[in-house]
Amino acid sequence: METKTPSESRTTQTDLVLPNETNPLNNMFGGELLARMDRVASITARRHSRRIVVTASVNHVAFNKAIPLGSVVTVEASISRAFKTSMEVVIDVWVEDRESGLKSKANDAIYTFVAVDDTGVPVPIPQIKPETTQEIARYDAALRRKQLSLVLAGKMKASDATELKAIFE
Ligand SMILES: CC(C)(COP(=O)(O)OP(=O)(O)OC[C@H]1O[C@@H](n2cnc3c(N)ncnc32)[C@H](O)[C@@H]1OP(=O)(O)O)[C@@H](O)C(=O)NCCC(=O)NCCS
Repeated sequence: METKTPSESRTTQTDLVLPNETNPLNNMFGGELLARMDRVASITARRHSRRIVVTASVNHVAFNKAIPLGSVVTVEASISRAFKTSMEVVIDVWVEDRESGLKSKANDAIYTFVAVDDTGVPVPIPQIKPETTQEIARYDAALRRKQLSLVLAGKMKASDATELKAIFE
């Protein structure tokens, strides 16, 4: 199976926060950000696999900073690691300062997508070759997160989660 780099499928979306996308504090509604992240991450997963992809799990979301109405928000998604049919997508969210134009990190998230055929059956995908220091670190940690996600979903016994056991032993 072919191997690809994270940069080949990396996807970035920049958009405003409009009034109908905010909560009563005039900050971006969390569900709106989740939807933007899911869309951008699904394009990334599709570009990597060139298949139909479905969201299998949302493994981690951190809403570290509120994003005010009118902000310019950039959502960037990259494949950190591909397994047999599933792939982990890491999403970084940045907010641009109006005056300086500098971007600061607001949130991040980790989603898992599965490539499927026309009938919804999982199909094999290309592997990932990480290149940068950050890509290598995210690749190395991804198997641990996959095992944690499967254990929490009740799809793997904790006793079979070798990567997790290695942390605690
Ligand atoms: C995601 C889905 C295809 C997985 O089907 P499944 O019968 O569990 O298939 P498998 O057991 O073969 O798992 C397929 C892959 O997904 C991974 N996976 C399944 N659930 C997972 C989870 N909760 N966390 C991480 N990985 C998961 C498996 O480990 C496997 O990975 P691998 O082949 O890379 O090793 C299926 O559950 C599905 O279609 N779910 C609905 C998806 C959807 O509609 N999403 C939108 C929500 S509105």
